[in-house]
Amino acid sequence: MRSPIARLAGIGAAAPATVVTNADLEKTLATSDQWIVERTGIRERRVLQPNESQSDLFVAASRDALAQAGIPFQAIDTIICGTCTPDRRLPAAACDIQAKLGGGTAAAFDVVAACPGWLYTLTVAEGLIASGNSKKILALGGDRVWSIVDREDRNTAVLFGDGAGGAVVVPATDERGILATALGADGTLADLLNIPAGGSNEPPSEQNIRDRRIYVQMAGREVFKVAVRRMAQACHQALGKAGIRADDIDLLVPHQANLRIINATAGEAGVPLDKVMVNVDRYGNTSAGSIPLALVQADGEGRLRPGMVVLLVSFGAGFTWGAVVIRW
Ligand code: UT7
Repeated sequence: MRSPIARLAGIGAAAPATVVTNADLEKTLATSDQWIVERTGIRERRVLQPNESQSDLFVAASRDALAQAGIPFQAIDTIICGTCTPDRRLPAAACDIQAKLGGGTAAAFDVVAACPGWLYTLTVAEGLIASGNSKKILALGGDRVWSIVDREDRNTAVLFGDGAGGAVVVPATDERGILATALGADGTLADLLNIPAGGSNEPPSEQNIRDRRIYVQMAGREVFKVAVRRMAQACHQALGKAGIRADDIDLLVPHQANLRIINATAGEAGVPLDKVMVNVDRYGNTSAGSIPLALVQADGEGRLRPGMVVLLVSFGAGFTWGAVVIRW
């Protein structure tokens, strides 16, 4: 087994205060609590109000992660944010977060990898530590997905919510830290989950807003099948790289998109359900915020103890996927 190069010195996460229940959605959409619970496991999600910002969540999550790490924000040399919903089109979310945390001159940039954004970010952070370019990194992931879903489309509106989190990543000093990461993508399947307009090919216009092309479009059933297959493969790949067997996993923290996907992925990866963290019922799919939110909840529930082997796995638009093995 390889010695870790980087470790997570502290973690934090934050979700908005406003709760939207399935019953709330029944009032405006041709849907039902029963359908949503049976098909997805989701009971409620959290959403930001118009006067709140995604960066507010990142600031709260960062403060918690920094406090747990015992590291002041001024010591951070790099801020990386895995998100596809920055507060504004420019600059990177990481720059707005830096300003709200107190400014400074740390390098700040975003990683756009949809739901696995935080796993991509952790992998980039590990590389920057390995090269010696960075010593103390704020590695964040989260999304304000509610801002990019069509609230009139029952196929997508019921699935998503807002959330954010992250970790302070520093050089490893012992056997604890990131043991392996495995990332992948298949851009040929991008049309199955995308936002057609609002990019440089089709800038926002009255027409594409009317046609609702500025919102997420998803072929749910197709995404489901590829998600399970790719997440299972990513788990096996990351475990292989780490030299660890599925039996050695103490906790699996999968992307929280759908309880059926979580159960199928755990089965394919060979991890029993009592070792799987689930909170999709409370938050829905918060994209890149999903794994940090689940990880922080697991920590709060005493499910993470030093020395444990933790496997993180995710899948999303791109398609992108990734898995990370950590000795906690
Ligand atoms: O973050 C990663 C990206 N996203 C995902 O991982 C999501 C992957 N996909 C899924 O989770 C599931 O495919 C969904 C939850 C999106 C859908 O579940 P499904 O079991 O695949 O349902 P379906 O799309 O096959 O639709 C079944 C029926 C359809 O009606 P008909 O054609 O059978 O009459 C839909 O129109 O359910 C209908 N339906 C709904 N009914 C009530 C779709 N959405 C709803 C809804 N309420 N919200």
